[in-house]
Amino acid sequence: MAQEASIDTATVIDGEGVRRRDFINIAAVSAAGVGAVAVVYPLISQMAPSADVLAESSTEVDISAVKPGQAIKAVFRKQPVFIRNLTDKEIEKIQAVDNDAEEFAKLKDPQKLTERTKEGKTNWLITMGVCTHLGCIPQGAAAGELKGDFGGYFCPCHGSHYDTAARIRKGPAPRNLEVPEYEFASDTVVKIG
Ligand code: FES
Repeated sequence: MAQEASIDTATVIDGEGVRRRDFINIAAVSAAGVGAVAVVYPLISQMAPSADVLAESSTEVDISAVKPGQAIKAVFRKQPVFIRNLTDKEIEKIQAVDNDAEEFAKLKDPQKLTERTKEGKTNWLITMGVCTHLGCIPQGAAAGELKGDFGGYFCPCHGSHYDTAARIRKGPAPRNLEVPEYEFASDTVVKIG
């Protein structure tokens, strides 16, 4: 109350026609503007990736021990990645769908194996291990885990089945398991990210 009363007494027109109350308001808004700039700058500088984060932005994985038919789990940016060495039989099964226009058109997220792997290395299927429905970790990358109706990955949270190319074939997931950016640093080392 005391503050309100003091502002009211300042509401008079001075010699230049600017009310003192207006001046008080303008001064208050200007101070708030300075405050906003001071707060925003640290937020922006915090959003820029630090050297540590940049160093963590790629992951190198030795795949020399992964035999055909096996898969391993790695970690990339704190999320699981599945690295799978497909057998010739699995590749044939995937290509049978890729080369059959009718079957291929039935895929919810149509992508051929050649679009999901690197040229000359179609046996290496590298995907994020994160279900595209609500983000659970599907099973199928470790020995003894369920692989679902299509022999790839199975998400137990709500029953999404992915095939051996990690393409969604059944269940609520809308998209195939995502293929992250990666390259082969050598024949036995993959650099993800
Ligand atoms: S999170 Fe995978 S099916 Fe729902």
